[in-house]
Amino acid sequence: MTAPSLAPGRTGVVGTARTRLEGRAKVTGAARYAGEVPFAELAHGWVATSSVARGRIRSIDTEAVLAMPGVLAVLHHGNAPRLRPGVGLFGPDATLQVLQDDRVPHVGWPVALVVAETPEQARAAAEALVVTYDEEPHDVAFSADHPGVYTPEARPPAPPDVERGDVDAELAGSAVVVDEEYTTPEEYQSPMEPHAAVARWENGRLEAIDSNQGSYAIAQYIAQLFFLDAASVRVTSEHVGGAFGAKGVRPHLVFAVMAATMLDRPVRVVLTRRQMFTMCGLRTPTAQRIRLGADADGRLRAVDHESVSYSSAIQEFVEQSTRPTRVLYATDALRARTRLVRLDVPTPTFMRAPGWAPGSYALESAMDELAERTGLDPITLRLRNEPAVAPASGLPFSSRNLAACFEEGARRFGWPDRDPRPGVRRDGRWLVGTGVAASAHAAMTAPSTATATAEADGTFTVRIAAADIGTGARTALHQIAVDALAAPPEAVRVRIADSDFGPAQFAGGSMGTASWGWAITEAAAALRERLALADEIPADGITVRADTSELVRARQPVERHGFGAQFAEVAVDPASGEVRVRRLLGVFAVGRVVNPLTARSQLVGGMIMGLSMALHEEGVRDTASGSLVNGDLAGYHVASNADVPPIEADWVDDPDTHNPTGIKGLGEIGIVGTAAAVANAVWHATGTRQRHLPIRLDRTLTR
Ligand code: MOS
Repeated sequence: MTAPSLAPGRTGVVGTARTRLEGRAKVTGAARYAGEVPFAELAHGWVATSSVARGRIRSIDTEAVLAMPGVLAVLHHGNAPRLRPGVGLFGPDATLQVLQDDRVPHVGWPVALVVAETPEQARAAAEALVVTYDEEPHDVAFSADHPGVYTPEARPPAPPDVERGDVDAELAGSAVVVDEEYTTPEEYQSPMEPHAAVARWENGRLEAIDSNQGSYAIAQYIAQLFFLDAASVRVTSEHVGGAFGAKGVRPHLVFAVMAATMLDRPVRVVLTRRQMFTMCGLRTPTAQRIRLGADADGRLRAVDHESVSYSSAIQEFVEQSTRPTRVLYATDALRARTRLVRLDVPTPTFMRAPGWAPGSYALESAMDELAERTGLDPITLRLRNEPAVAPASGLPFSSRNLAACFEEGARRFGWPDRDPRPGVRRDGRWLVGTGVAASAHAAMTAPSTATATAEADGTFTVRIAAADIGTGARTALHQIAVDALAAPPEAVRVRIADSDFGPAQFAGGSMGTASWGWAITEAAAALRERLALADEIPADGITVRADTSELVRARQPVERHGFGAQFAEVAVDPASGEVRVRRLLGVFAVGRVVNPLTARSQLVGGMIMGLSMALHEEGVRDTASGSLVNGDLAGYHVASNADVPPIEADWVDDPDTHNPTGIKGLGEIGIVGTAAAVANAVWHATGTRQRHLPIRLDRTLTR
């Protein structure tokens, strides 16, 4: 047939509210997740984990377990395939070197995999497996003055230390100084869908269905880890039930590949909720000291932010909690320091807005304390310290509309009528208060590839190894593709989450839609050029590929961020200490919004997670055993329906041409600032500062 005629220009689909393309499949149960795809001859792996926090495995009694019904194999450090050391998604990753030696670095470290005909048989055998250890003394007690605190090596995106101007001199000369320590606890990503993978060998190729944030990089990594050709590994992840940073490569996938290779049959490994608390990363606790020095009119002279976090004995992961301090406020002198201590704990990883979320809690709480001490309105104080360029780097912002967020938010929230005095409003037995905080998050893009195909039947297929981890990315990419192809929506299909589609950015760092959308836009433009010259479309269509690597690298360095202002109203029961959030409002400047429906869900979801961080989430570690006391969803409370009030999220115009799509990304910024807004509102309600998260009942009762 002849090439369809493509009208130049945009269809207007980007920017309109669209329900998820896969929504019906998900709510009817037709959508299959990694743990659900049926296979003939499927075997099931169950992970056995360490009960001690540090030491060596002395013995594993496999014999008794191998005699149990249905048991096919017990993999352990004595018989498991050797893995290539020193590889990982973001540099060498020791957390994936499972079953390679007898060393136990923390409670819950995987020590064996039992494979059986059914999950029940595998579980029974794994629980019956007797493992003995030579225990060594462990240390899981985190504190900022731990003798092991050190300065980690510099690594992107933020060096551990930044120093501009003379902080000590400016502090000494300041009329008002705030000097406080803020702490945040262990927090867990807790996606609804557990980590799951099935692996099998098919015609000489390893195929894995996995729940993850980026199939291409994971396929590459699995190939490296198992000494395979990159082309002989395929990873897909069609549907993912949440990730929040916890779904890079995790041991379940490594185990599935190990077992499928050893047994030469498909093997599925699904982690339990409890195992997710020890094997899938967490947000490290932080202890942050903030010192602010200001003139009497609130103009900042010094900002000093030191954050200490932990990592495991086997892997250095650095939570960069000073990131908000590097971009939010103008100051004569700035010092930001990142410190680390290594403990016998699981390795932390990214969790929604890593660095930004805990850092903003500390900084934005301290700013509220400065507003109190200078007698300034918290918004006035912030606007007085709006920077012309980024305070740490000195680079210009690609766009910055934080002031517009505060102005619009204040108007909608009713902020101008606020009585600044704390502890004076009552509603029945409740003390009522309001608080505000700024949000910020990096808005980056990374190279990606996409293909666009004009099919012989007049439709189009776009392929990209993007991941939709529940965000609505698939739908947003469809809108971008429709727009870039200038085609009717029903004529365009988008296929994602298949490593065979080529390199693409992870669903992480709020970089997904901007990075993928850019590649799709380029592929669509190239396809339109080809079609303009084509007389006919052959039976297998016309396919073009775009790679944004050069375009991404060619850009000028600039500070590119999303911003926002969050407002909270809380009620505190002075008898019980209970805090109820009554309403939340967030107004954001996040570049171009592709799909207002799913974008709002991302922002509101982030704010709910921020509410949860403020009031509920806390991993409690027992120093005697080294284990998590509350490592399941019965003990680790995440905000649920009854905790969540009406939440409103909206955005202001924020044009940004630094990336041609104009997209800044908004998957993470919603969680940044919420906890401080809530803590500041609790102070306004009660007169008590909340410098430690979560704001538990006992903490609001302490005066
Ligand atoms: Mo996400 S915490 O950017 O993987």
